[in-house]
Amino acid sequence: MNHFEVLNGELACEVVPLRAIAEAVGTPVYVYSTATLERHYTVLRDALVAEGLGNPLIAYAVKANSNVAVLRTLGNLGAGADTVSVGEIKRALAAGISPDRIVFSGVGKTEAELAFALDVGVGEINVESEPEMRLASTVAQAKGTRATIAIRVNPDVSAGGHAKISTGKSDNKFGVSFSEAERLYAQASNNAGLKPVGVTCHIGSQITELAPLEQAFTKMRGLVERLRAEGLSVERLDLGGGLGVPYFNMPTPATPADYAAMIARTFKGMDVQFAFEPGRVIAANAGVLLATVQHIHERPEGRKFAVLDAAMNDLIRPAMYDAWHDIRPIKARTGASVTYDVVGPICETGDTFTRDREMQALQAGDLVAFMSAGAYGAVMSSEYNSRLLVPEVLVKGDQFAVVRPRPTYQDMLDRERSAPWL
Ligand code: LLP
Repeated sequence: MNHFEVLNGELACEVVPLRAIAEAVGTPVYVYSTATLERHYTVLRDALVAEGLGNPLIAYAVKANSNVAVLRTLGNLGAGADTVSVGEIKRALAAGISPDRIVFSGVGKTEAELAFALDVGVGEINVESEPEMRLASTVAQAKGTRATIAIRVNPDVSAGGHAKISTGKSDNKFGVSFSEAERLYAQASNNAGLKPVGVTCHIGSQITELAPLEQAFTKMRGLVERLRAEGLSVERLDLGGGLGVPYFNMPTPATPADYAAMIARTFKGMDVQFAFEPGRVIAANAGVLLATVQHIHERPEGRKFAVLDAAMNDLIRPAMYDAWHDIRPIKARTGASVTYDVVGPICETGDTFTRDREMQALQAGDLVAFMSAGAYGAVMSSEYNSRLLVPEVLVKGDQFAVVRPRPTYQDMLDRERSAPWL
């Protein structure tokens, strides 16, 4: 459920008409709903708690939507943060999330990044390979401390969904095999720079079926049992993220309640502290990208292009993953539907949000909302074609705040320097 509903004949975010935001901030603009973010977090947490999974750490995956106001909204509810860079750790800290609730993931952490993570005292560094584990140990020992680590395992299961966001097969770059994990865990336990506390896996994103997750988690259970049988202490089990959301044309994904029940079933009787790294399931349906139709360009042979002021630099998912986003005009118009290619103004054919989409007739000046754009939307935006970085707005009830303003062209130019010979 989300809080983008028609109110007084027009689409609103909570009780703020999207038109009011478009008038105040201009388009394109991302709009996020506080009530939806809170609801998604709470539904997931309550489902996990109801299944008796203790007091799990829900480390929201910052990469999905890293706006500090979004992080603070979730942090205020008790969320931790799953991060993959110094920048993301700094964002989580700026949002008031305590370091011990921050997980540091990623396959290529640099020495400087590991040093930073140790200095701020992040709660868990997810180590993805043997060289990275050695580096974590070296950096920690140089500081006279131990790095609290979890070993990321690649469970070698196919998550389904788009190949570019699938991470859990052995030919993906992520994590180590089960046998390596056992060897590394034992090594880490005898290493002066390391404190292994657990194991972790993440098999992909936009997973709509529980079967691949259950398969991976069953293997993770076996690993924990084997490690414990060797006398090694395994306190934590971080099960990653990946739960999908309905993108309107996709199979209805498993619910948080089904997900929690599957986990309770898989780990029945196992005493361990659970952690999760959900991103999309919390943020996707909590945000829209609002855009204006510039004009309708009709080819003599009949194809109709609805040209928007938003482009692939603002929302890259359709170009990058052939992703399907519902595009809702904020005001309903009666009459026959029309088939459009909905495109942006950027100078390449990839700047196409959708082809042959049947929707209500559009006119220049109409406002449209790309639904389910709260995750992997603004975070993946760029200034390609020297378009200004898209702004972000957070709504709460009848209020809204610009939580990332649109830069000016001068801001854009001021970031650059001339070379001495020019
Ligand atoms: N944990 C790790 C280690 C991850 O790599 C990811 C996502 C997550 C958690 C969060 O996964 P989620 O719950 O959001 O599925 N840009 C792509 C998605 C890339 C996901 C990358 N990793 C998209 O727009 O679909």
